[in-house]
This record gives sequence, structure tokens and C-alpha cells, in this order.
Amino acid sequence: MRNVDVLLHRDFVIGTTDPRLFGAFVEHLGRCVYGGIFEPDHPTADKNGFRQDVLALVRELAPTIMRYPGGNFVSGYNWEDGVGPVAGRPRRLDLAWMSTETNAFGTNEFIDWCRAAAIEPMLAVNLGTRDADAARNLVEYCNHPGGTALSDLRREHGWARPHDVKFWCLGNEMDGPWQMEAKTPEEYGRIAVEAAKMMKWIDPTIELAACGSSGRRMPTFGRWEDAVLEHTFDHVEFISLHTYLNNYAGDTAAFIASCDLMDNFIDEVVAIADTVAARRRSDKRIMLSFDEWNVWYRTRRGRDARVKPGWPVAPPILEEIYNMEDALAFGGACISLLNHADRVKAACLAQLVNVIAPIMTETGGPAWRQTIFHPFAHFSNFGRGRVLRAVIDSPTYTASYLDPNGPQDLYFRLPAVPYLKLAAVHDEEAGLLTLFALNRSLTEDMPLQVRIEGFSRLEVAQSLQLCDADLKAVNTKEAPDRIAPRPLTAVRASGNRLDATLSPASWTVIRMAVSA
Ligand code: AHR
Repeated sequence: MRNVDVLLHRDFVIGTTDPRLFGAFVEHLGRCVYGGIFEPDHPTADKNGFRQDVLALVRELAPTIMRYPGGNFVSGYNWEDGVGPVAGRPRRLDLAWMSTETNAFGTNEFIDWCRAAAIEPMLAVNLGTRDADAARNLVEYCNHPGGTALSDLRREHGWARPHDVKFWCLGNEMDGPWQMEAKTPEEYGRIAVEAAKMMKWIDPTIELAACGSSGRRMPTFGRWEDAVLEHTFDHVEFISLHTYLNNYAGDTAAFIASCDLMDNFIDEVVAIADTVAARRRSDKRIMLSFDEWNVWYRTRRGRDARVKPGWPVAPPILEEIYNMEDALAFGGACISLLNHADRVKAACLAQLVNVIAPIMTETGGPAWRQTIFHPFAHFSNFGRGRVLRAVIDSPTYTASYLDPNGPQDLYFRLPAVPYLKLAAVHDEEAGLLTLFALNRSLTEDMPLQVRIEGFSRLEVAQSLQLCDADLKAVNTKEAPDRIAPRPLTAVRASGNRLDATLSPASWTVIRMAVSA
């Protein structure tokens, strides 16, 4: 491959990453809660039933904010079922995942888990089967200090201090026919604005995300955002986006190009949000919450992978096993999010444990890192700071990507996919510049030359690469580190130039000590 050139300048900045860009998601789904973060009989469980082996991996993964309790689950959830003495909590049929929900774990337990993990909670309210009244009651229960029936109920339940939850999602994927009480944009816009008003009257410090489309492929995409924001514009800070990348077509080159569609999706939602602002002559800017993103396809199609018969408790569903090429597509998604740091101010990897997750567990047994764990840990641990605008001169290839999950199958043509996808983040405080790079050539080394202007000193501090000759290789309980980052030696800084050779089909992180 010919040289790939990149130009960076210290002062050419896209935006600063919001800490909430590095979030993840815990849903009452399969073994995410039960057997994932919460397993009272596990040998490592603490007095709250929290698995400490999982918590240790979560700390290493470093998510900053955690969305809960769904997902599709939230659209049928009565939050009241999950608070108060556990023995008195009802068992319910969960129609999202055809499971039995025991309610042994609920909002207060989730808040405790977040505190133990040093993660900010993000709560979603049910705007499917419930209404604005249930939503405002949950805010009062969680955030009001005391002296009212609901806040005193929380105190009586053992949580004297308010939970002070700042980030709230107004329902989930309300455009999707699979959702309990799915809505038209008008119906959803109306209920969302009424919920938003009351929630903020109770606690004006909270921030709200309205549901955007559950995918770019949805037939209502565009019209949905426009109509929903027409209703909610003055009362919300965020609109949400969801994307799951897939390799249904068995076309690896197209799969690892598909993360570029996230860039398009983000640009389009920004344009729609700003159009709504323009119609109102408003300088308010609605930010984006990419509150579900990941690779997900093996356990998506086929009823048996999504639900099990007999209304089981915490069945093993959606337990996607990630391979090396999944980690590449996933790393590309991390780069897309970083390169939109100006408008994507929150994002959640869906999900955290067992269910389409970076962490896998065996019930009663060990926990280990899936392949996608590594790019996320790099993204979160090293992605804090100012994202520099990279000018990239790379050869390209053509791909066609199939997105078949919605009511219609869509092919997206990607006419000029640069082999290099890259983001650069400058952490001023630490004096570090980090490059996140994806070499999308499946066969060729990439000779990379980066000219970095505006810094007086440049020294390679650390360089890591994730790659494997077998793109289908996975991590397992027996071989948990089959796919893990290894040091990259083919990297050198001199003057204002960095030279590196990136292996074919690789994810690379290069950290440089820099001074202004
Ligand atoms: O993350 C799995 C599911 O995907 C969520 O419950 C839903 O919101 C989305 O369709």
C-alpha cells in the first residue's frame, strides 16, 4: 500500500469529549443483571449481591455513565415493582424478552451498584405502557430530598439521600413496532413533552433525551426526529440515536466500513435538529445521545436466539460471542463517536455484561473480556480531551453494506471508504496526544506518516495493537486473552513526524507525550 498521510494541528479542534461519551447500558434482559452484575450466590458477591469479579472488569473497561433499565424492557416496566422490601416485590411477565422478571433488583440496587463502580446513572422512564405521571413520580422518588410521600418512601426503603440522577431518557425506541405501545411521532412527541415538563418542574437540574429513530434504516427516520423535536425542542437537551453494525452478508471489508454510516447518521440528525432550531430562530443546539451502539447480528435474527420458551428467569439470550473482526468494526464506531465530539455528548455501548457485551460471565464461574472490550477500554481511558480534526490522505475501496433488521432490507453503497479511519485526542492536562487508528486493508501493511503541527515536543509513550491473522478468533473462558492488545514496535517519532506501520486488519493506539 502507498503511504497514508495524516495532518494534525494542535489548534484545529472538533470539540472536547464529554465524559458521558463513554457510557454503557444495563438492561433487564437475559443475564445482564441476573448472573451478570448481580449474583448473590456467586463466590465473589459482596453483601449487596454484586459480583466483584465483574466490577473489577467494569473498572478496567471504564464506562462513565450507565443507562438502565432498558431498552425494550422499560416500555413495560413499573418502577414501583422494583423498590421496597424484596420479598414483597411482584414477579411479572416481561413482554419485551418473553421472560419472568423477579424484580429482585430494581432502581435503588442499580444506584448502589453505580456508586460502587463510580459510574453516573442514566435512567429511562416508561413512556410505552405508562405515562407522564409515572415518569414524574419516579423523578420525585429518586431526586426529591424528603417530606413528600414518594421521597419519604425512598427514605423508608433505606436510601435517605436523594439519588440525584441527572440524565433521563424519555422512553426507548418508541418508533419501533416491536416496542410495547409504540407510537407515531405525534403521539410520542406529545407524551414526551408533557413528561419532560413535569420531570423538570420537580428537578430543574436534570437533562433529558427524547427518543430519536431506533435506526437510520427506519422508514420514519428524519420525519420522526423533525416531528418529535417540534414538540420537545424547548424541554430537552438531547435526541437519541441507535445503531447495531452487522456482518450478515459475510463481507468483512464492508462490515468494517459500515461504521462510516454512523458518521452519516450523526450528521443527518444534527442537520435535522438544527433545522428545527432554525425554524424557531433559536440558537439552542440539541445534542446527540448515541445511547445504543455496538455490533449485533448473530443473536438478533431467529427467535431462539432472542427469546426462550416457558417464560424463564434470566435466560441466556443475545449472548453474542465477538471475534477479531467485530473488534475492528467496533473500534471504527469508537472513532466515529470521537470525531463528532462537538455534538455527540453522550453515548452508551449496548450492553455491559453477557448481553451483546464486552464482558462475559459464567453463572457461578469466572468472568472474562470479549474482543470488543479492548477498543472500548482504550476509547474510554485514553479518549478524554480535545479531538483534533485530522486531514487524511488514504487510498480507498468500495463496499456495499446490508442493513436488514428493520421492516425493509436496505443496501448502503459506500463508494470511497478510506483504508485508514483515525481519531486524534489531545489531553492537555496529561500532556498526551493519542491516535486511534483502524487499518481496514485486510491484506496489506499500512505505512502511516503523521505530521503533527503546533507542539514543540513529540515522544512515543505507548503503542498498542489489536490484530490477529484469524479474523474469526474469539476469547473464551479457557482462552480469555486469545485476542488482547500487544505492543506495536513499528512506530517512531522524530521532529514533528510520527511514522508507523499498521498491520493489516488492525486496531492501533499510539500515545505520545507532547508539549505545546
Ligand atoms: O440492546 C438490545 C435492544 O436493542 C434494546 O432493548 C432495544 O432498545 C434495542 O432494540
